[in-house]
Amino acid sequence: MAVAEAGGKPGGQRRIVLITGASRGIGAETARVLAARGDHVVINYREKRKRAETLAAEIIATGGSASVAGADISDADSARALIDSVIAEFGRLDVLVLNASGGLERDAAPDYAMLLNRDAQAHVTRLALPHLPAGGHLVFVTSHQAHFSPTREAPPGYETIAASKRAGEDALRAMTDEFATRGIGFTVVSGDMIDGTIIVRLLERRDPDAVTARRDHGDLPTVEEFATAVANATTSPDPLGHTIYVGGMDYVAAAQP
Ligand SMILES: NC(=O)c1ccc[n+]([C@@H]2O[C@H](COP(=O)([O-])OP(=O)(O)OC[C@H]3O[C@@H](n4cnc5c(N)ncnc54)[C@H](OP(=O)(O)O)[C@@H]3O)[C@@H](O)[C@H]2O)c1
Repeated sequence: MAVAEAGGKPGGQRRIVLITGASRGIGAETARVLAARGDHVVINYREKRKRAETLAAEIIATGGSASVAGADISDADSARALIDSVIAEFGRLDVLVLNASGGLERDAAPDYAMLLNRDAQAHVTRLALPHLPAGGHLVFVTSHQAHFSPTREAPPGYETIAASKRAGEDALRAMTDEFATRGIGFTVVSGDMIDGTIIVRLLERRDPDAVTARRDHGDLPTVEEFATAVANATTSPDPLGHTIYVGGMDYVAAAQP
């Protein structure tokens, strides 16, 4: 794992923002939004180096600052190397966006979802914590179907992901006292199914009714809308552990006690 600086060194005033799983989808769009606002974004990818480099090049071409960092965060050593390399390169980390998620992959081992969506989230956070300055921010990205698990039934095929992402959120919430002591912000961003994403296309193939049922309540949020909410969360003044909901307010209202 190495950080490959895809452009000039970021200016001293830029926040250093690490986004896990930013080679595509919501993570990639969040990188675009934050870079356009003046942050240096470290685009973490697992496999798709070329895609991550293309995104970094696009950001730099439009006047932003970005670099790429390959790491499988479900591998403890790889996750450690990721944080070490960011600190070695930039000397600090101001914001960590925990966006990478998985488990629906065809070849995924039975315990992979918990390994990635729970254990890796807590591990990366623990590794990053000593480097996040007071005023730094941690954002956890999740879905309504996971956030309200097991209160609401998850769509068929998504149950394991929902349970593991909820477990990941709980593991982070259990660290809230430490975030408070260190003066670090912590925000959860939960979204309805997001239009046009690969996950929704996969779900649509497995269980079209589950996706149609969500569309029946109105347009699904777009990747741009969700990514903007994630980007906004990095400066959220809300209390520790506050959850920002994007779309599906019918679902949120029905799931809340
Ligand atoms: N899609 C939705 O409808 C939806 C709705 C609500 C919330 N969310 C949440 O939004 C986040 C992003 O979703 P998405 O749909 O944009 O995901 P996605 O398209 O599946 O992208 C996943 C990203 O995570 C990376 N990744 C996967 N496993 C990894 C690992 N072990 N280590 C490091 N990186 C890894 C992938 O990198 P490579 O491509 O290089 O492997 C890719 O960049 C997730 O937390 C998801 O739960 C999604």
